[in-house]
Amino acid sequence: MAINNWYKDRVFYQIWPRSFKDGNGDGMGDLYGVYEKLDYIKSLGCDGIWFSPLYPSPGVDCGYDISDYMDIAEEFGGMEAFKKVLDGAHERGMKVIMDLVVNHTSDQHEWFQKSRQRIEPYTDYYIWRPAKPNGKLPNNWDSLFEGKAWTWDDVRGEYYMHLFAIQQPDLNMDNPLVREEVKKILRYWLDMGVDGFREDVITFISKPEGLPDDKLMPASKGIFMFNHGPHLHEYLEEFKRDVFSKYDCMVLAEAPLVTPKKALEYIDEANNPVLDMMIQFATQEADSFMTDYIHMPFNLRKLKKTYTKWQEQLDGKGWNMLYIENHDHPRMVSRYGSEKFQKESAKMLAVSYLFQKGTPFIYQGQEIGMTNWYPSDPEMYEDVQTRWQYFNVATNKSPEKRLQRLWHGSRDSARTPVQWSDEENAGFTTGTPWFYVNENYLQINVTQQETDENSVLNFYRQAVQLRKQLSCVRNGNYKEYGKLSSSFYTYSREDEKEKILVVCSFIGNAKKWNMPAGFDISKAELILANYENTDDTLLQPYETRVYYWKK
Ligand code: GLC
Ligand code: CA
Repeated sequence: MAINNWYKDRVFYQIWPRSFKDGNGDGMGDLYGVYEKLDYIKSLGCDGIWFSPLYPSPGVDCGYDISDYMDIAEEFGGMEAFKKVLDGAHERGMKVIMDLVVNHTSDQHEWFQKSRQRIEPYTDYYIWRPAKPNGKLPNNWDSLFEGKAWTWDDVRGEYYMHLFAIQQPDLNMDNPLVREEVKKILRYWLDMGVDGFREDVITFISKPEGLPDDKLMPASKGIFMFNHGPHLHEYLEEFKRDVFSKYDCMVLAEAPLVTPKKALEYIDEANNPVLDMMIQFATQEADSFMTDYIHMPFNLRKLKKTYTKWQEQLDGKGWNMLYIENHDHPRMVSRYGSEKFQKESAKMLAVSYLFQKGTPFIYQGQEIGMTNWYPSDPEMYEDVQTRWQYFNVATNKSPEKRLQRLWHGSRDSARTPVQWSDEENAGFTTGTPWFYVNENYLQINVTQQETDENSVLNFYRQAVQLRKQLSCVRNGNYKEYGKLSSSFYTYSREDEKEKILVVCSFIGNAKKWNMPAGFDISKAELILANYENTDDTLLQPYETRVYYWKK
């Protein structure tokens, strides 16, 4: 695993390849486009890249359905383009991590094709079950994307399990041969020079013995049965023992529903950790419950509680992964911020998390404050989960209400092409884009923000640079103030040398404010702010400030 914890000093940039930048004019983002933009990513102060899947895939789940783990998709430029990007990133001092998606494969993967024909050694690579005598499904679990978790396969004459799309059959990780395949994949990329992995829904890989029914259905979809299953820790330990411990690499695990206490079972540095960091979901739930489709008014106190809980409970034991956006959730300006105050709130949201303790990730387009997408027709959505949500859930509601559910809930809002300029297709492609461009690209785009010294983009650069300069941000204590406020989020970071106070307003009107007791404003230096004039007794809409004291 990572020698000297190099990941703790870095800021990562997440690329969702289809929509980042098209380099060859076919309308699909690709690695030629990434190569063109390496200096741009570096200019943000980012020194790591996480690639969402680049492997060959039928694209049912936009690459998370993999048909070959040892190659790079032709549409992204193939292996040659990847090696060029990998070298280019390394030359610039940037690390590169890949997505490892091994809870499931594509149904087009050779393993599945052979498994359904019972060709050895693939027969038990997946989770196959006969129909029950009463004609019922093997158990009552739901797919997280569409319908039940079981689909009948005529070739094999059995049901197979899929926790996600029908075309994403779950691997049988209890089969040692499957775990050997995983290790082979890991070694293949690590030997090529890749610096680690983000492990997709890795906490789902160990299913309970006998696959019992979930008594909490239908509300739970079965998730409490297969999340953190009986052999999860053991399998992660095996991957570490046989592979990760032999490389200088970072391992980041996606972990739905994980709590800090649970996370420490895997990442406690004093207790033989099997992972470096985990991706929690709780900070995405300040305006929703369990899923983005159960939408509720934004609740700042809920968000602050979660932030503080993770900061405090991991302190000195494990390391936080910090993020506000990724490819699975709608855009934050439209959720916890405000489209009306797009610029102000985008900057405030940056500050709200970038100065916490941990390793921050910035998702493509977040750095210019991209917002949600509001298509007029549900047919315009591409994502498999979104489409199921429209056509099969809440179907008793009016078409308008159902479309609004998607505006609030769909991850397609974060998957529109990155807005590079005010040229046609936002400068994303010279061809026909594979997906819709958000209409607001004329107002929100990189080129415009490059020339504006007060842009969201330049603010991100400043904030990232500051976080790297300040020793208190890397290692200092975290403390929250005004916990009961439902308007402001305030926290300090402090070490032996220095102290900062971070102030964030999450409301769209000006409001009276006082610096918390114990902070001497007359000795403070204001090192970052999103308004030109600041008032010591008032915060403007979505105002943010970072004050600094040298000791
Ligand atoms: C993870 C990915 C998501 C994908 C799912 C199934 O949650 O982030 O994009 O659809 O797993 O692989
Ligand atoms: Ca392309």
